[in-house]
Amino acid sequence: MKDGSGLSRWPVFVALGMLVVISVVFLVEFAVSTGAELQKTPSATLDAASYQDEVLPLLADADPQRGAALVEEHNCIACHRMGAENNIAPPFQGLAARAGLRRPPLSAEAYVYESITHPTAYVVEGFSPAMPQNYPDLLTGRDLGDIIAYLLSPDAY
Ligand code: HEC
Repeated sequence: MKDGSGLSRWPVFVALGMLVVISVVFLVEFAVSTGAELQKTPSATLDAASYQDEVLPLLADADPQRGAALVEEHNCIACHRMGAENNIAPPFQGLAARAGLRRPPLSAEAYVYESITHPTAYVVEGFSPAMPQNYPDLLTGRDLGDIIAYLLSPDAY
């Protein structure tokens, strides 16, 4: 009965196929998680002094008005202005006064810089880690300086 034995091999092929699929999924997951690990390493090694060294040149001739426009352009306000009422994200209003107290010894500017460039390094109590992590890819150094200058100005809201 050739036909019968041919059919009876199907479960073997199906099992082998599934094994291949599972292996591929596993390898991809492994590659992704290893990549994520590598990306996280720098933030773990950054400290108050290195943040300060990075953020001060950005603030040297920053333009807070341009920062205000960027905050709208990049939709920060969806969570931090519109969403603030529903506790989606902390409001920007009053950040200047709070920022320097959030995470000592980080200065206010170093803290805001870290919040945008390494959002998972510290999560504000009472909120989920919902802040997008790709802003460093979207913003130039000048953009960052202007945004930080705006957020630390009394006009921020
Ligand atoms: C999808 C929602 C969302 C968007 C969009 C978003 N954030 Fe956030 N952000 C959060 C949440 C939630 C937190 C609080 C949790 C945390 O610390 O990660 C946060 C925290 C912060 C903090 C710290 C605030 C504090 O009171 O300590 C700053 C600064 C900040 N975000 C800046 C920005 C900027 C600038 C942008 C746009 C370029 C932006 N965020 C876009 C959700 C968002």
